Amino acid sequence: MTEETVYSTFIGTANHGFGQHAQEEIRRLFEAGTRFSHLVPSEIFLFMVPAGRQEATQRLLDREPMFLRHMQPVDAELEWDGTVEALGGFAAQKRELELQAGTKFAVQVRKTEQVGSGIAAGACKQAIDEALAGRYEAIPVVKDADVILSVFLTEDTAYVGVSKPEQNLSDWSGGAIRFRKEEGQVSRAKFKLLEAERTFGLDYSQYRSALDIGAAPGGWTSLLLERGVKVTAVDPAKLDASLLRHPQLTFLQKNAAEVRFKEQSFDLLVCDMSWSPRQMGKLIKGLLYSLQSGGTAIITLKLMHKKPFQTVRELTGDLAPELALQKAKQLFHNREELTLFFIKS
Ligand SMILES: C[S@@+](CC[C@H](N)C(=O)[O-])C[C@H]1O[C@@H](n2cnc3c(N)ncnc32)[C@H](O)[C@@H]1O
Repeated sequence: MTEETVYSTFIGTANHGFGQHAQEEIRRLFEAGTRFSHLVPSEIFLFMVPAGRQEATQRLLDREPMFLRHMQPVDAELEWDGTVEALGGFAAQKRELELQAGTKFAVQVRKTEQVGSGIAAGACKQAIDEALAGRYEAIPVVKDADVILSVFLTEDTAYVGVSKPEQNLSDWSGGAIRFRKEEGQVSRAKFKLLEAERTFGLDYSQYRSALDIGAAPGGWTSLLLERGVKVTAVDPAKLDASLLRHPQLTFLQKNAAEVRFKEQSFDLLVCDMSWSPRQMGKLIKGLLYSLQSGGTAIITLKLMHKKPFQTVRELTGDLAPELALQKAKQLFHNREELTLFFIKS
């Protein structure tokens, strides 16, 4: 007698236009039998894999797909009549939504466009919060939850799942991490470096001296300066005037191919040039003598020819053996690009 295969179902989210790549990575992680159906074309999809929920989650966490920004389990697929009241009703009854008394829970609600604008995610969240708080004496929170209750709504179905925040890849709803724009912020690019800090578990204030290649107008440089890091910024274009007098900044208004430094001058190298990956790799390779061993490199990789996996392989090959890839991820703030985190050997 053959054992029956156990399946588990999740909702995966990628940046718009990159859902296919996330699916390709998931398909490679699991044997044949993985099935997909889209909820929002090229962005949000259901996936069913031939493994139990715990095993599947662990595999996805251990070998995190670059293009999968967020995942949420589907513990129940409920027929939904399109009303907020019904969601409160599910929360008040369904066995899948059981919580221990005192549990801090965060409800994250998303929906497809077809669910009318009359159904606000906020109102759905409130109805579920109230029902769960009443039923279990559990505590609704926004941050630092013990569990996240994810609800994804289509016109006629509510997909719900309960998971620990770390099991979703991001504790932001759909992985859409939002930073507040500051007064006088030099560039939106700053958000990429901020997000990279969280995603890769870094703390920029621990670094002493950074090299920023392709620094203008200076969003990344400004973040590193704010964290107390000494920055050498290189760019033929001008840095924002607000940065130029900073005592911790050295600005070289040059092409990065023309600069020279002392060996091991930096413990952090960042590069956000929107340029051909091969050319950028060559340029960075030529400057690696200036990065200490054990130092960190954060590099934006532009996806030029729609062959992202090959592009990553080529860049990591070009930068080896000096730089070892720790993680590559398409951040929420990345557009046609990925962000790579390396350590120098
Ligand atoms: C996307 S912008 C960088 C944005 C920056 N990270 C920020 O936060 O404001 C890319 C920059 O790379 C610079 N760049 C391109 N080729 C370069 C080279 N060979 N050497 C130095 N900088 C270069 C461009 O001049 C441009 O300012």
